[in-house]
Amino acid sequence: MNVELLDLHPAQADLEQLVREGMTATPRQLPAWLLYDSEGSRLFASICQQPEYSLTRTEIALLNEQASSIAAALGSGVMVEFGIGNARKVSPLLKALRSDLFVALDISRSALRDALEGLGQSHPQTTMLGICCDHSQLTDLPLHPLLDGRRRIGFFPGSSLGNFSGDSAVALLQRFRRLLNNGPLLLGLDQPRCPTQLEAAYDDAAGVSAAFARNLLTRLNRELQGDINPDRFHYRARWQSSQSRIEMALVSERPQTITLAGQRWQFDADEAWITEHSVKYSPAAAEELARRAGWRIQQRWHDDKDQVSLHLLLPAD
Ligand SMILES: C[S@@+](CC[C@H](N)C(=O)[O-])C[C@H]1O[C@@H](n2cnc3c(N)ncnc32)[C@H](O)[C@@H]1O
Repeated sequence: MNVELLDLHPAQADLEQLVREGMTATPRQLPAWLLYDSEGSRLFASICQQPEYSLTRTEIALLNEQASSIAAALGSGVMVEFGIGNARKVSPLLKALRSDLFVALDISRSALRDALEGLGQSHPQTTMLGICCDHSQLTDLPLHPLLDGRRRIGFFPGSSLGNFSGDSAVALLQRFRRLLNNGPLLLGLDQPRCPTQLEAAYDDAAGVSAAFARNLLTRLNRELQGDINPDRFHYRARWQSSQSRIEMALVSERPQTITLAGQRWQFDADEAWITEHSVKYSPAAAEELARRAGWRIQQRWHDDKDQVSLHLLLPAD
């Protein structure tokens, strides 16, 4: 088994700067990647198993059913997965592509290490290269002899693009085009559907989604010497139809002041602190997004209910 890990995680000073920017925004919002420390990654894996959250099960089934058709359409090359999480999806593609190198990016060190060690055991012929980084800031993939001059194939499943709204989603897809040297991108998105079902998916009865959001506060307390009392915020997930997205927030129970990295921030009662968004894309909206980012959709695979889709994106020119 050959696993190599490279650590390009943002530094403490970057974190303090991001918090200053996010806490002065209206509404307050930090980058969604801050949800993923080791506990956040563990809780996300548990969200994927909740009965209300069908996206992961549906996308895995679709990948298993369509792996050979998708691999044939992708062609040969080195697969690069953005935000691998617990690596539940890429195996059928790695098997079909038979590549000697797999590159995985994730902001969560623990998730990345565990993911690649697990994959390394089931794919012993493939070198696993992990890069711990914020992929929305990465300017190039590091040099690696097995990557040199090779065609790159991107994989971005799990509707993770939905964490980026509007222009930032376009910017991320433009960045991926550069990181992939104009290679193809397999992009997993889910579609708008019944708001009650969507709100339940992001606010499960067992409270795992709420714990995942609240873990952000625990992380900030630990890493930025904060004094936030997580019990003074309640979790809320609501569908915003005009933006075709779920908004997830921690809502302040009362007027309160919190301290982070020596700075004090005042919250009003009922003030929402946005933890993340999850934008849902109809096929037409996905086409438009791809076009704005310099890609075109060559092919689309979807589940029986047409709720979850995998799109093959190619550079538009
Ligand atoms: C919603 S989970 C999806 C995981 C997996 N791809 C799936 O489909 O189940 C998002 C994953 O991307 C990682 N992530 C989130 N934002 C990131 C960023 N800006 N850069 C790199 N990784 C990120 C998280 O740590 C997490 O593992």
